[in-house]
Amino acid sequence: MEDMEKKVRVAFLCGGRSAEHEVSLQSAKNIVSATDGARYEKTLIGITKDGRWLWRGGERHNEADFRGFNGFLLNEDDPKTICLDEKNLVPFDCGQLKQRFDVVFPVLHGPFGEDGTVQGFLAMNGVPFVGSGVLGSALGMDKETAKKLLRAEGVPIADFVTVRKDTRIPAFSAIAAKLGLPLFVKPANMGSSVGVHKVHREDEWFEAVNDAFLYDAKVIVEECIDGREVECAVLGNGAEAKASCVGEIIASHEFYSYDAKYIDEDGARIEIPAKLPDVVTEKIRETAVNVFLILSCADLSRVDFFVKNDGGIIVNEINTMPGFTKISMYPKLWEHSGISYETLVDRLIRYGLGRRS
Ligand SMILES: Nc1ncnc2c1ncn2[C@@H]1O[C@H](COP(=O)(O)OP(=O)(O)O)[C@@H](O)[C@H]1O
Ligand SMILES: [Mg+2]
Repeated sequence: MEDMEKKVRVAFLCGGRSAEHEVSLQSAKNIVSATDGARYEKTLIGITKDGRWLWRGGERHNEADFRGFNGFLLNEDDPKTICLDEKNLVPFDCGQLKQRFDVVFPVLHGPFGEDGTVQGFLAMNGVPFVGSGVLGSALGMDKETAKKLLRAEGVPIADFVTVRKDTRIPAFSAIAAKLGLPLFVKPANMGSSVGVHKVHREDEWFEAVNDAFLYDAKVIVEECIDGREVECAVLGNGAEAKASCVGEIIASHEFYSYDAKYIDEDGARIEIPAKLPDVVTEKIRETAVNVFLILSCADLSRVDFFVKNDGGIIVNEINTMPGFTKISMYPKLWEHSGISYETLVDRLIRYGLGRRS
């Protein structure tokens, strides 16, 4: 008997050119494992740090491969050294994207992945993809622009100033007078806390700004918000976009740094649902969807907040392709909201597919 339904051909992009390359590989591994092989024909495409697209050739992956990721990833259980198994991979010809795949899932974080570049490239190639398009991705990635738009719409954000590489770094005293101490310094376009610094004293200031400049020519300096860190997941589109329950990050480090996120196993724990008064939870959920819509996002995003002691909320940032690593909040929030990892991935692929033109 013929197959009742032809399998949907999905390509998962992972790795990428950003400092979040390894995080992306971890995310992709989980997403691909949760994708139902009975209904989807899965193909992995890795992007190296220098931007080469690699795959295992046209041969089909079988389910056993996906358990071991044979010939695709090396050191897959170690977040520090996980990498593409380049010896077993060959160049992928991007001109084949549209003919080979029904939909692409760009499981990429950070610049050249989550910022609209790859989304524009996929759109140019006429292949539908999961997640926000060019505008939503670019707005979500650029912390300065996102904050300005949110502020214009009355969404509460932390006060900040922008520092550009081609201008003089402002004097510490002037910044401290405006924003108070300590301060947060971060690259405008980055993620996973890469290049983020908490600055308490003048002697830390220039080093922090210069380090952030390694990742972006635009750096934002923010007032420090004294509060708890909570996150809310959004899934869907337009009037159908829904917020999950709210989760809290309890970091044991001074802030939720890269190490606390991915390296130190005890760096942070998460609590779902966050213990908050119902009115605060509802305000967060409503604001999360609002932020998602203001920034023209699609399919999925995680919106991160601070909750101050008085119950007031501040939006920190949006992540248009949130992490899907073992410890990541996005899939966990949905699991607690009644949507399993498998169902979540299935919905996301269907949203992408739905944009086929
Ligand atoms: N204004 C702030 N006040 C207090 N903590 C902050 C502030 N900005 C960032 N942080 C801390 O730094 C972490 C990383 O900053 P974030 O803006 O979320 O960057 P990224 O995009 O790299 O995740 C946050 O999770 C939080 O712990
Ligand atoms: Mg963050």
